[in-house]
Amino acid sequence: MNPRPRPTLHRLRQLHARGEPIAVLTCYDATFARVLDEAGVDVMLVGDSLGMVCQGQADTLPVQMQEMIYHTASVARGNHGVWLIADMPFGSYQGQQDTAIANAVQLMQAGAHMVKVEGGGWTVSLVRALVERGIPVCGHLGFTPQSVHALGGYRIQGRDEEAVERLRLDAAALADAGAAMLVFELMPSAVARSVAQSLPIPVIGIGAGSGVGGQVLVLHDMLNLTAGRLPRYVRDFTEGSASIQAAVRRYVEDVKSGKFPDDTAHGY
Ligand code: KIV
Repeated sequence: MNPRPRPTLHRLRQLHARGEPIAVLTCYDATFARVLDEAGVDVMLVGDSLGMVCQGQADTLPVQMQEMIYHTASVARGNHGVWLIADMPFGSYQGQQDTAIANAVQLMQAGAHMVKVEGGGWTVSLVRALVERGIPVCGHLGFTPQSVHALGGYRIQGRDEEAVERLRLDAAALADAGAAMLVFELMPSAVARSVAQSLPIPVIGIGAGSGVGGQVLVLHDMLNLTAGRLPRYVRDFTEGSASIQAAVRRYVEDVKSGKFPDDTAHGY
């Protein structure tokens, strides 16, 4: 019998309230879901990074709703005790709100506990509508991969005062609309820390330093399975680990103890 209790948002709020960092990894299939569950990961994200990781695409833009549903259902079948977030893919929520809600419902029916949408501004009213309908939402600010072309490539965000102010306003508006969690991607550590500390909800960072409420990495990056040069914020957890299971356990331990990320080596 699996000893982990069923995951709840309440448990994540408790972790955050007692200052315990939340350990998040992406996951795309049932086998890895079981590994991550047994290793004690707090949250799994079925990221649309599956476009690159599983499909060999250049970015997340080609990923379709049916593909997100397929991977979410696969992960859900291998999972027992981990909170499960599914990304809403590009094009699934940028149009009519009714369509966005119907798409979010499909991800929840596939086994997600929460959906993630990228961006601030116009997404605030969608987040409110989803939360009002009983669908927990995670926001995603800073570098938002679905806007890679609009942002001019994989660039660090929040570099000037105006950008920091926009981040602060967007983050507060998303929390006010009912988002229960945010992801901050690719921004200076000091900026992420200052905005995260002003919010009542946990912020999970990726390339955003150590001053936030948790960390997320793409699973295949931290297992050193990704071709080419890894982003600076990634650490290879297979180094010195005897197995994949051990590498994932060490990631959880290092996030919890604050050993990862090390702002001097993995921050901006
Ligand atoms: O799709 C994904 O893997 C993500 C993470 C980078 C946060 O959104």
